[in-house]
Amino acid sequence: MKKIVAFAGSNSRTSINKQLVKFALTYFDSFEIKLLDLNDFEMPMFSVDKETQSGYPETAYQFREEMEQADAIICSLAEHNRNYTAAFKNTIDWCSRIGINIFGNKPTLLMSTSTGGYGAGNAMSAGKILLPRCGSEIIETFSLPSFNENFSEGKITHEALKAELEAKILAFKKKLD
Ligand SMILES: Cc1cc2nc3c(=O)[nH]c(=O)nc-3n(C[C@H](O)[C@H](O)[C@H](O)COP(=O)(O)O)c2cc1C
Repeated sequence: MKKIVAFAGSNSRTSINKQLVKFALTYFDSFEIKLLDLNDFEMPMFSVDKETQSGYPETAYQFREEMEQADAIICSLAEHNRNYTAAFKNTIDWCSRIGINIFGNKPTLLMSTSTGGYGAGNAMSAGKILLPRCGSEIIETFSLPSFNENFSEGKITHEALKAELEAKILAFKKKLD
């Protein structure tokens, strides 16, 4: 059975991106699923001084290990001030110092959502540059705008946006065959 490792680029306990990831995962019945929470991989704010003094946090090795065990990755990026969150960037900064190929060339479904009408499109744009640099093969991307209007009770309620994600998930799954 192929394994999907999924996470939101957010450390919010009520992350809307985590909710979107959970919804996407409902289409992956025939896969083994592991949904990560960045809070379980907490790391100090990256600094070269801490790196020199103490090396890498154990959680950076653990996050990399989770990626190594994946056949495919699903990630949804939250947006803070027109970029992905500091929590996500910090995770990537530490992990990248161990080795730049964090995602092991695994096929990736990259999503984003925000409460705004652009659906965290800036985080998505930045993620499209960052993730491939870290060894992610982005197969499909999807941004959900205006989360509070278009998502309810664990599901996308906007029919056209739901159909768009379903088509992209289908294309993504074909790539995993
Ligand atoms: C510090 C901060 C900055 C934000 N900046 C943006 C922004 O630039 N663009 C946007 O669409 N939403 C912005 N938001 C709203 C987030 O999209 C919203 O908090 C969302 O719930 C974050 O995703 P998450 O719940 O998965 O963490 C910001 C929120 C915070 C707390």
